[in-house]
Amino acid sequence: MSNNFYLKRSSVLARKMSPQPIRENDLNQIIQAGIRVPDHGALNFWKLVIIQGEQLGKIDKEIILNEYIKKNPNSDKNFQEIESKRLQRAGAVIAVLSTPVDHPSIPLWEMQLSSGAVCMNLLSCAQSLGYAAQWLTEWYSYNDKMLAYLGGRVRIDKISGFIYIGHKIEEPNERKRPNPVDVVNYL
Ligand SMILES: Cc1cc2nc3c(=O)[nH]c(=O)nc-3n(C[C@H](O)[C@H](O)[C@H](O)COP(=O)(O)O)c2cc1C
Repeated sequence: MSNNFYLKRSSVLARKMSPQPIRENDLNQIIQAGIRVPDHGALNFWKLVIIQGEQLGKIDKEIILNEYIKKNPNSDKNFQEIESKRLQRAGAVIAVLSTPVDHPSIPLWEMQLSSGAVCMNLLSCAQSLGYAAQWLTEWYSYNDKMLAYLGGRVRIDKISGFIYIGHKIEEPNERKRPNPVDVVNYL
């Protein structure tokens, strides 16, 4: 049990990863693992959008920076500089969209939970292959232009997260973890 990957797994901040491309075989494995999740009704209430190469910079410039300046026209140039490089912190970013449908018996909540499971599987699989990875939403997950660019339906679909995948420069510091006695009850 002490060697269990899940007991040691932790995220590396996007700003601390190195953005070289991710090997195609590894990315394919991460995607396969990501979509192998419990899914009530097997209806796949989620979509993945793989962003890599030139698309990273294109979305940074055309969506993230543009939308940021639109909402913060007088913002400091230093902040704009940060926004202009968000996705380029990673070698690849996987956007996970929650794409629910009207269903007579499966509640919306369960469809949304399943897309969270996709995010967690992507994250864990990338980390198990030795990559630096982080699940982020930041402000642009709640931006309609971004949602539409990724193929989402505004006011129906939601962005569950962006899974940033890059290369490790150093091992992350262990962060505070919950004490089981605070969060677990045995009946
Ligand atoms: C849905 C979701 C959204 C998140 N969005 C952000 C974010 O926008 N900014 C941030 O600094 N951390 C965010 N985090 C937290 C990071 O993923 C952080 O790396 C993580 O809590 C570390 O946990 P781990 O080491 O167990 O993987 C988010 C986490 C989740 C689950």
